[in-house]
Amino acid sequence: MADRTPLIAGNWKMHLDHLEAIQLVQSVAYHLDPEDYERSEIAVIPPFTALRSVQTLLEGDKLPMLLGAQDCHWEEQGAFTGAVSVGMLKRLAVRYVLCGHSERRALFGEDDEIVNKKLRAVMAGGLTPILCVGETLEQRDAGDAESVVASQLRAGLDGVDDPASVVIAYEPVWAIGTGRTATPDDADTMCGFVRDTISDLGGAESAARVRVQYGGSVKPGNAADLMAREHIDGALVGGASINADDFAIICRHHRS
Ligand code: PGA
Repeated sequence: MADRTPLIAGNWKMHLDHLEAIQLVQSVAYHLDPEDYERSEIAVIPPFTALRSVQTLLEGDKLPMLLGAQDCHWEEQGAFTGAVSVGMLKRLAVRYVLCGHSERRALFGEDDEIVNKKLRAVMAGGLTPILCVGETLEQRDAGDAESVVASQLRAGLDGVDDPASVVIAYEPVWAIGTGRTATPDDADTMCGFVRDTISDLGGAESAARVRVQYGGSVKPGNAADLMAREHIDGALVGGASINADDFAIICRHHRS
C-alpha cells in the first residue's frame, strides 16, 4: 500500500473574524505535539479576511500547520469584483484551495466546468486543490451515489495529467452540517470507489498515491474510526473545526 500522509483540514466556512482566527489557531496549536504534525498534515481554511493574520501567526511561531483557502477565481487578475486570484493566495503562503465544495455548487451556482477551471488555475499556480465531490440524499436513495461522484471526478479532473497531485474530499451532501455521518464502512466504500475512478482516469499508480479525505459531520467521537479505514486519508472538517478542543482531538486521532 502506498504511504499516504493523511490531511486533516478545518474548513471554517463563513465563521470567525481575524482576531478570533488567531485565538483559535493558538489554542489548537497548544494541544498539538510535533508527533501530531508528523503523523498528519494539519491545515486550517479560514475566510479570506483572516488568511493574513493566520499566516503571520504560523510564520512567527513556526507552527507547522498549513493554510488553505475556501475559494479562488480562475483568472490571474482583472475586473472580477469580489474575487481573489490564486497568485494572491500564493503570496500568503496558502497551500490548499477548496474546489467544488457542495455549498459553492448549491448556493453559488458553481457547475463542474467552473470547478474544473478553478482547479486547473490552482494547479497552474503551484498550489494543491482539494476537489470536493459527493451525492445528495436524493441521489443516494435513487442508487446514483457512485455515478454522481464518478461524473464529478471526471469533469473536475478534466485535463489533469496526474490526479494524485490533487486531494479529493468525498463529502456526501446529506452528511454536511447535519450531524449525520456516513458509517465508517460506507465512507470507506465510497472513498475506495473514488480511488477506483482515479485509477480509470490516471492509472493504478496514481490511484495508490492520491489522498482521499472524508468529510461530513466529522467529530471527535467518530474521527479515529473513520481515519483508520483503508481508503480514508484524513478528514475535511467543518463545524468541529471552529472549536479548538474538538479540532485538536481530531488531529490527535492516532492517539486513541
Ligand atoms: P461539517 O462540514 O463537518 O460541518 O459537516 C464539512 C464540510 O462542509 O467540509
